[in-house]
Amino acid sequence: MPPQPPSLVPDFLYGTAWKEGRTPALTELALRMGFRAIDTANQRRHYFEEGVGQGLAAAYRTGLVVRADLFLQTKFTYQPGQDHRLPYDPAASLSVQVAQSMASSLEHLATDYVDSYLLHGPASNHDWTDVDTEAWEAMRKERDAGRARLLGVSNVSLRHLQQMAAARAELPAFVQNRCYARLGWDRAVRLFCRERKIIYQGFSLLTANQEVLHHPLIARLTTASLAASFNATPAQVVFSFARAAGILPLTGTSDAAHMKQDLASRDLTLPPDAVHAIESLAG
Ligand SMILES: NC(=O)c1ccc[n+]([C@@H]2O[C@H](COP(=O)([O-])OP(=O)(O)OC[C@H]3O[C@@H](n4cnc5c(N)ncnc54)[C@H](OP(=O)(O)O)[C@@H]3O)[C@@H](O)[C@H]2O)c1
Repeated sequence: MPPQPPSLVPDFLYGTAWKEGRTPALTELALRMGFRAIDTANQRRHYFEEGVGQGLAAAYRTGLVVRADLFLQTKFTYQPGQDHRLPYDPAASLSVQVAQSMASSLEHLATDYVDSYLLHGPASNHDWTDVDTEAWEAMRKERDAGRARLLGVSNVSLRHLQQMAAARAELPAFVQNRCYARLGWDRAVRLFCRERKIIYQGFSLLTANQEVLHHPLIARLTTASLAASFNATPAQVVFSFARAAGILPLTGTSDAAHMKQDLASRDLTLPPDAVHAIESLAG
């Protein structure tokens, strides 16, 4: 394979979970609205990865984007996280399952590499186990063979990451976690990531934090006085806060206007004291 430039890390990820038959059209719409980074998983239970590929194909056909413009991220999911529609042979070894899942993802997405490949979640909620070590090694092989540019882990605790580090495993380039304001927006994991130069991706920033969206502080920050040219929505304040706090945000919106608004949050800069206040708003 010819040498490829390193993946550019995007500033917003469009998430494709739970979109079923609308996945192709919503993926294409997200690209049309300006997203260039797409998150999916080879887990048919919650994602329709093949549909993401159909949306990409439609965008390629109209000349909207080419593959090199995009950051494509997908995931390997263990069997307990799947339904009967498995992208691998459940009787095969875990290493083979990873290779089969990756081959299937590349076919779904009609590409020969993904920009980022995540372990969807460790096998145990408590510990980084030998099972995870085997899957992670198999993912590293996929990366070394050029089929993934960067690797990551999702749904991890600080303990998982510390155990990875203690076992001298290669640390991930990305962590993707649900981000609860009441847990200081996953403060402990974010601090670990910051120290190790791991990029933290946050999902459910809106859905997990309804109390924040309705907090008077957020309402105050949406007013035009903050930025003369910007009448922000609470969602935009949250996304802008996330970026200022070092969180690479995901959005799963199905609404064209929300897609535009979410991307426009990149133009909203909150003052440092507001960022600090939101960070410690709920936990
Ligand atoms: N690794 C994992 O285990 C995992 C787990 C969950 C999610 N994810 C990833 O993260 C992605 C995003 O998931 P999520 O939980 O953050 O989002 P989500 O559940 O897909 O929903 C976002 C919600 O916020 C609303 N919204 C978005 N922008 C808005 C705006 N500007 N104003 C008002 N409402 C707005 C959406 O409503 P409208 O549709 O009406 O805009 C929707 O109800 C998923 O698609 C998936 O790719 C990963």
